[in-house]
Order: sequence, then structure tokens, then C-alpha cells
Amino acid sequence: MKEMLEKIEQSALSEIAAGVSTEEIRIKYLGKKGELTKVLRGMGALSAEERPVVGALANTVRANIEAALKEAVAAEEARKLDEKLKKEKLDVTFPGKEIARGHRHPIYETEQTLRDIFIGLGFSIVEGPEVEYDYYNFEALNIPKDHPARDTQDTFYISDNILLRSQTSPVQVRTMEHMQPPIRIISPGRVYRADPADATHSPIFHQCEGLVIDKGVTMGDLKGVLELFAKRMFGEKTRIRFRPHHFPFTEPSAEVDVSCFACGGKGCRLCKGEGWIEILGAGMVHPFVLSNCGIDPNEYSGFAFGMGIERIAMARLGINDLRLLYENDMRFLEQF
Ligand code: PHE
Repeated sequence: MKEMLEKIEQSALSEIAAGVSTEEIRIKYLGKKGELTKVLRGMGALSAEERPVVGALANTVRANIEAALKEAVAAEEARKLDEKLKKEKLDVTFPGKEIARGHRHPIYETEQTLRDIFIGLGFSIVEGPEVEYDYYNFEALNIPKDHPARDTQDTFYISDNILLRSQTSPVQVRTMEHMQPPIRIISPGRVYRADPADATHSPIFHQCEGLVIDKGVTMGDLKGVLELFAKRMFGEKTRIRFRPHHFPFTEPSAEVDVSCFACGGKGCRLCKGEGWIEILGAGMVHPFVLSNCGIDPNEYSGFAFGMGIERIAMARLGINDLRLLYENDMRFLEQF
């Protein structure tokens, strides 16, 4: 039996060395019906002295075959890995696939620029609610219930005295109620009006309010701030122009134009031949509004301004239809 075991070991090891499949060898020698198993079954016929000797030898043979198989399996795996690595060579210098990158929407980008400019001038950002009381949107701003100024700012009503704000000016009132002068804030945000959408109107759009209150603030300060703003927003050569206007919450009031940065004021398609583009409303805060908010108009004065963010984005980018800004057509947005 010893010779049989030695022969089994030898032939198994030489088959492994010859590269016969390890699985086949395992079945052929070590499996249930394998050659080694067969020999072990015959051990019953051995004498009591011979049995442990042959048993020990059989264990050694099994261990040797298993060790050789293990080595062969490892070698095979290493070879396969090597082959795979050679086949899947990675060229790290090869240019990658370009990922399409998005960018800021023109409205958002304009708002960020606005914020940056006014933060640079020492203003803080204040936000107010879009669902607003009639009192803050109109009444406290010197626009009583039957005032004709309400017509141009018809909005959506939640109830008799709650509405979607039609302007960012209510934030002026809220700020003055809670803050003592000196006040220097801007308030960008969404506003609503019951206007059907067309090239220059939208029921939802964005405004940015500005408010400065302190002792001895004059219209000269207003002009200075707006001129700086216009130069930063539209370019250093930009000039501004004040035209008399009326807002119930400022006195005096003005509409403010910037010189057309496309033609420098000569008149072109962008400014419709005017040389000027209207960008905002402004004025000195009305004494009534100051007292409505608990600020003594004899001690303090201030100015306010309000601008449409879409209008500024459209002027800067030469966009002629407001609706394009809301359609999210990639062919349009990708141009900026
Ligand atoms: N709220 C005004 C509007 O929507 C703009 C404005 C703001 C005018 C502040 C003057 C001062 O038309």
C-alpha cells in the first residue's frame, strides 16, 4: 500500500507540474471517488500495526498534494492577473472625457454681482417675506387703500390684508422698525404682480431694494452711491441721469438712467436710439414713512432705491425678451 500511496503522490505532483487543471486533479485524487480515498477505504484490511503507519503516510500524501495544488492555484491566479493588467493597460496621459459644466443663471449672476458691489460699499443684506401684509407693502409706504399707485402694482391677494409683495420696498419698513440708524442695507428678492407675461412683464420677477438712513444724508449721497454702482455694474465709463418722477414713499423721487454702454450714449439698438437705459427708481425717504417706522424725520434723513434685477441682466447681456430668462432653454442659457 505504501508503494501505491507514493505512486499516487508522484503522479499527482507531476500532473500538477505539467499544468493539468487543478480542479481535475483535486477530483481525480482527493475527491470522494478519488484514488487516495480508494486506498484509504482499503485500510480496513491492514493489520493493527500497519494501519497507523499507512494512515500517517496517507495524511502526508494528502497534505503534499493539497499544498502543491494551493501553490498551483496561486500561480495560476497571479498569471491571470498579470495577463489582465497587461491587457488593460491604462494610459494616464490620455485626455479625459469632458464633463459638461453648468453655470450661473443670468438672473442669479446679476444678483450676486449686485450683492458684491453693495457689500463693497458697506451695505448689509437683509431679506424679507414674499407673503406680506398690505400694511408693509402699501400702507406704511404712504400708499393708502384707494391710492392710484396701487393700480400699477396690482398683485395676488391671499386675504384682504395679506398679499404677495409687489415690490421689495416693504423690507425698508421692516428694517426701520427693527434697526436704529445708521442703516445701510440692500434687499434682493422675488416680487409679484398681476401682469400677464410679455417681453417686458412677468407675474414673478426680482428686485433689489436699497436703503440708507443717517443724520444729514442728502440726495448728493444717493447720486454718489448710484454712480459708483452703475460704474461697477456696467463699466467705468457709465454715466447716470436722474429724471423727476413720483413715488409715494420718496420725496423728491427720480427715475435713474445709465448711459448706454453699448454705444456710449450715441443711440443704438440696445438703448432703442435713446442713448440711455432706465434701470431704477429712487428718492429721499418720505418723512411720513420715517415716522411710520418710529424714526424722527427732524433728526434723520435717508434715501432709497429699487431696481429690477431682470432689467439689469437684460441690459447687460443685450436680451430683448424677459420670457427667455424663465424658459430654461439650454440653447439660450449657454450663450452667457
Ligand atoms: N418700489 C419701487 C417700484 O417697484 C421702486 C423704488 C424703490 C422707488 C425705492 C423708490 C425708492 O417701482
